[in-house]
Amino acid sequence: MDTNAAAERIKELSRELELHNRLYYEQDKPEITDAEYDALFRELQDLEARFPELSLPDSPTKRVGGRPLAKFSQVRHTTPMLSLENGFTEADLTDFDDRIKRFLGLGGDASISYLCEPKMDGVAVELVYRHGLFSIGSTRGDGIVGEEVTENLKTIKDIPLRLKCEPPPELLTVRGEVYLPLAPFRKLNEEREEAGEPPFANPRNAAAGSLRQLDSKITAKRPLSIFCYAPGEYSGITFSSQSDFLARIPEWGIPVNPLIEPVRGIENVLAYYQEMMEKRDRLPYEIDGVVVKVDPYALQRDLGEKSRTPRWAIAWKFPPRQATTVIEDIVPSVGRTGVITPVAHLARVEVSGVMVSRATLHNWEEMERKDIRKGDTVIVERAGDVIPAVVRVVTEKRQGTETLLPVPLSCPKCGGAVVRIPGEVAVRCVGLACPAQLLERLKHFASRRAMDIDGLGEKFVEQLLELKLVKDVADIYFLTEADFMRFERMGKKLCENLLAAIEGSKSRELSRLIYGLGIRHVGEHTAKLLASAFGTIDNLARAGEEELLTVREVGPQVAASIADFFKNEENLKVIERLREAGVSPKVEQKRLGGRFSGKTFVFTGALTRFTRDDAKKMVEQEGGHAAGSVSKKTDYVVAGAEAGSKLEKAVQLGVRVLNEEEFLELMK
Ligand code: IVH
Repeated sequence: MDTNAAAERIKELSRELELHNRLYYEQDKPEITDAEYDALFRELQDLEARFPELSLPDSPTKRVGGRPLAKFSQVRHTTPMLSLENGFTEADLTDFDDRIKRFLGLGGDASISYLCEPKMDGVAVELVYRHGLFSIGSTRGDGIVGEEVTENLKTIKDIPLRLKCEPPPELLTVRGEVYLPLAPFRKLNEEREEAGEPPFANPRNAAAGSLRQLDSKITAKRPLSIFCYAPGEYSGITFSSQSDFLARIPEWGIPVNPLIEPVRGIENVLAYYQEMMEKRDRLPYEIDGVVVKVDPYALQRDLGEKSRTPRWAIAWKFPPRQATTVIEDIVPSVGRTGVITPVAHLARVEVSGVMVSRATLHNWEEMERKDIRKGDTVIVERAGDVIPAVVRVVTEKRQGTETLLPVPLSCPKCGGAVVRIPGEVAVRCVGLACPAQLLERLKHFASRRAMDIDGLGEKFVEQLLELKLVKDVADIYFLTEADFMRFERMGKKLCENLLAAIEGSKSRELSRLIYGLGIRHVGEHTAKLLASAFGTIDNLARAGEEELLTVREVGPQVAASIADFFKNEENLKVIERLREAGVSPKVEQKRLGGRFSGKTFVFTGALTRFTRDDAKKMVEQEGGHAAGSVSKKTDYVVAGAEAGSKLEKAVQLGVRVLNEEEFLELMK
């Protein structure tokens, strides 16, 4: 390549990387895979190394990340928040180890003490504690200046507002990764789809989007978590090594990933990587590699830093969860609530060790927004065990023969009418007897997370429907041996097992039954809240919208949906027949532990010693819960000045009333 061509290419790569930085950091909408980004980045690095005179002063290789958004106020980090060098192969890691030994003047057979950590796939933040109090929190931004998101971070239950240590250090800055675990990620996407908003492509984007809310009430609704992994500036305290730091901060209430491990020598780093690869799919959150750090801080200081990355650490990335493939067909599928979802049938492709042949396209609006067509070459991504999704179309591969799938005018399974409810993005089949809906409802009821009827999967449910043995979930409990023996290839033993599994499911926890009923907007989490608030299915069925709204996290849409479900005569009959069949769910115990375990607080009036959000968090940290309205179930009302009707109601009901000081006394 001559100088002119190199200059052109450097400019082009810089422009492209800038664009992708903005898409990734500022808009949470990456359009290329990490691997593709890394390839562009490396190409630019190589060219700059070969033609140093052409390297631009503001080259993306000299930056740590994107620019912070203007709308948040900006915070200068105590010390720069560096990035990490990436490694992809075993050889990259042995090179890293060799480089360290050379730099430190050690022999090739020396064994370095490393601290291995999972690489969390979330958003990097900095938390500043002054005299033990959480005072300011920010995102990484460009590594030098970040966005101030203190109020949003305060909504994260894992972040202590006050360090549990006496006396606290004068200053402690910790860095960590805010992430959204997979279960709430799935729930959030379901809710977004119901509400007609585009779903997040992965938990990292969801975490970034949640943390960058100008209204912290929205952040508070997203159950974000954090693991901390590095110190920033600190004073009044010392740490001798990374393992010392990570062992001490949890004692003060700062969460650290329990999977961290000190190892000696690079061979053991390899073993740690294998172990994490193997665990990856079973973790409740996404990790995208492991981070390997030289453990003693004295050695870290000797090794120092390059312009954007430390010499003493490396991120060893897992194979990407994304892959490129072709959409062979787009097929509408009908779910248990009648929602019709376009599903992409893909040319089979391996995505980080798993063969993928289907991907959800979510809904027509989303499909049109991404302009996804049958025949397109696309990037697919899978996060944990979440259904794979199409991230984007590789438009450069378009041939002109690709076709769009029109919105269906009737149900593709039962031929019945479909509707698009105003304000909703979903297209729904409203046929009550639609066999596709019934199939999905039965499968959902029997599934592992609901009533967990082992063996009653798709194959058998289909036969039950074909033989017209069931028309609702209660019918399952009236099936006999003779019924099952009509199945193809059914043996006595298998039949006994199925009947035993059905019998065993009669005493599942109440929350599983509530979830299994498939009430719209009631996922596993809401089902648990409802089970512990109402104790029995009858109490829940009797509750009106107003009472439902007193349950923590239940909003008007969810309350209306539950009330509608129990107003429906057919549904009430199903509940009655479940009872007749002997389904008697176990009542769940509330979470124990914590001095306010099982206690409900209501805060009212003008509070001066703490904000309402802080108070809520203090109560929740101790296992209690803060409610919005006073009822017989309220244990304490904390009243500030000018408390009105809630205080009156508390007095009427004989609920204990505290002032702010008395509440703080209780907390001691
Ligand atoms: S250490 C100089 N440890 O990865 C030390 N980073 O690619 C910098 N990350 O910006 C960070 N898990 O957002 C570190 N256990 C871990 C991490 C981790 C995830 C993220 C972090 C960082 C990025 C660099």
